[in-house]
Amino acid sequence: MSKLAEATNAMARQALENVKPKFLIGLGSGSTVAVFTNALGEFVREKRIEVRVLPSSLQIQVACEAARLQLAEPSLAPYVDLTVDGADQIDKRFNMIKGGGGALFRERILLSAAKRSIILADESKFVEILDMPVPVEVHPFGRGLAEQKLRGIGGKPHLRTQNKGYPFFTENGNIILDVEFGPIEKPPELKSEIRMLPGVIEVGLFDEKIFGFYRARTDGNVDLIRP
Ligand code: A5P
Repeated sequence: MSKLAEATNAMARQALENVKPKFLIGLGSGSTVAVFTNALGEFVREKRIEVRVLPSSLQIQVACEAARLQLAEPSLAPYVDLTVDGADQIDKRFNMIKGGGGALFRERILLSAAKRSIILADESKFVEILDMPVPVEVHPFGRGLAEQKLRGIGGKPHLRTQNKGYPFFTENGNIILDVEFGPIEKPPELKSEIRMLPGVIEVGLFDEKIFGFYRARTDGNVDLIRP
């Protein structure tokens, strides 16, 4: 196992310090949250505590089932105690780009609802300034207009596709436009601007309040960064 994989496992175990009995836990998506989900399953069995989980995607729901975690109804989202999520990029002011897995719509709800949120990410995700394409979830009927409007505010939209060129559809039946903006100086302002465009369902720019960022390092160590 690589040092980074070891650090990712250690990070997941360290992040369990935020889990309390009876907690309702929102889970984001991606490979890092999958590692945490597995660790959570072992933890609740070892400590003989009860928690319920609300996954943000089928990917993480399957991981929850494999970890034998108790699933909660989506209607309980407003009562989430803790959300644990990953990120695609994190800037020095702790703005994030998320949505690499297409789960941004539900991740927004879980991060907005939670009493406490933590982010787990490896050190390659931490950057000075956000500069990767921003995932924008768009209703298929609004694709053409959304592309035109995104170009109008300086973006270069690309329809996300799967192998063989088929469009990627989110679990909400929408498409994703990955939009190049170059370096993003003011992520919250850009988020608001994109959100106003017709056809846009959700934007992969996040500035929710985060309690702690756990960072897995290639030297095998883990940092906890409190904004
Ligand atoms: C899912 O839509 C994203 O927001 C994820 O949080 C992100 O892609 C992180 O995934 P990894 O942990 O696999 O890098």
